[in-house]
Amino acid sequence: MAPEISNKMASLHGSMIRELFKLGADPNMISFGGGNPSAETFPVKEIEEIAAEVLTNDPISVLQYGLTEGYTPLRDTLKCYLAEKEGFDFEKNELFIVSGGQQGADLTTKVLVNEGDVVLTEEPAFVGCLNTFRSYGAKLVGIPMQMDGMDTEALESTLARLTASGEKVRFLYTIPSFQNPTGITTVLAKRKEVYRICQKYDIMILEDNPYGELRFAGSNVPTIKSMDTDGRVLYCGSFSKTMAPAFRIGFLVFDKSLINPITVAKQCTDVHSNVLFQYICNEYMTKYDWNAHLETSRNVYHHKASLMLEQMKLKFHPDVKFSTPEGGLFVMAFLPEGMDAYPFVREAINKGVLLVPGSAFLADPAGVSNGFRLNYSSPSDEKIVKGIDILGKLTYAWIQNHSVQ
Ligand SMILES: Cc1ncc(COP(=O)(O)O)c(C=O)c1O
Repeated sequence: MAPEISNKMASLHGSMIRELFKLGADPNMISFGGGNPSAETFPVKEIEEIAAEVLTNDPISVLQYGLTEGYTPLRDTLKCYLAEKEGFDFEKNELFIVSGGQQGADLTTKVLVNEGDVVLTEEPAFVGCLNTFRSYGAKLVGIPMQMDGMDTEALESTLARLTASGEKVRFLYTIPSFQNPTGITTVLAKRKEVYRICQKYDIMILEDNPYGELRFAGSNVPTIKSMDTDGRVLYCGSFSKTMAPAFRIGFLVFDKSLINPITVAKQCTDVHSNVLFQYICNEYMTKYDWNAHLETSRNVYHHKASLMLEQMKLKFHPDVKFSTPEGGLFVMAFLPEGMDAYPFVREAINKGVLLVPGSAFLADPAGVSNGFRLNYSSPSDEKIVKGIDILGKLTYAWIQNHSVQ
């Protein structure tokens, strides 16, 4: 039997990145295509100690069904941490543990979006979440990214146009710090402007911040959630890049008025997140040196990002521009305006370097982008140098042969 697939899923294509991953498995390929955190940063020994201790002394507490909203000690630890570090107000807000940041986006969409509603998104933006929005029948409308964050004039004019034409805009999706895929950080003035405009048009904001703890240069910029006076920002964080992505543990902070729908949405999806891994996160945050651990991870990424950027400056054609990430895992490079990066990426793959074309991250999947994403967290130093050398030569050959007249 050939089962009939729902309209919502039939129109979705598998992530181009997951497909490219298969090519990345070739040991001869230099992969700048993935998005994995560096395995060097996983606190393996400590995870082993914590797991062994609890499985020996109190196994039932981590093996029995848990609470939908999450393991209470971890929720309390995170609330204290976020209140102190980001100034979040937990008189007005609640925090649930979710199964990775991806589930934070999923629950937000499940609760807020009806089929045919509009979700605004930075463009380009993380394709995993774009696909989540699509899977609920949302219409995606992109707001271009600039080197200092979202184009807020475009945000305002788009909202004016959509509202005038009677579209129901449910929320804006933004990744203000070390954005995936561009590596760009939205400056404070633009964060304030984003909040002001969303307030003016009365739309919600989903602030996705899985890389926020990984700042290795520049100075901290307040989150949009910290400016939220009227409960319009849902804030999503994750342990995927600070502990280990296979834990599938993240957290969602939201206005208390959303407690009931989010509880039910999570119950429908997976009942609760993995209790053993929540326990490990909490023990690690409270009994080990969390700040020292983050500092070690930042140093790893700082080193790798600096090396890749330095090599790009040396080797890339001067007409190829690129972002300067102050944290996170990615940098995005841009061929001259008007060029499509997709065939460039295919050629790079033929030459043994895996990249992701910017078009994979667009609101319109048929759109064209001159950008391509490079990941520096996974490849070794040697591979970074070798891969950028290959790409650098390709940028010269490509621009010479494909110059836009
Ligand atoms: C911007 C962004 N949001 C969310 C996620 C999902 O992360 P996870 O579900 O592992 O927390 C990712 C993963 O790469 C991401 O880049």
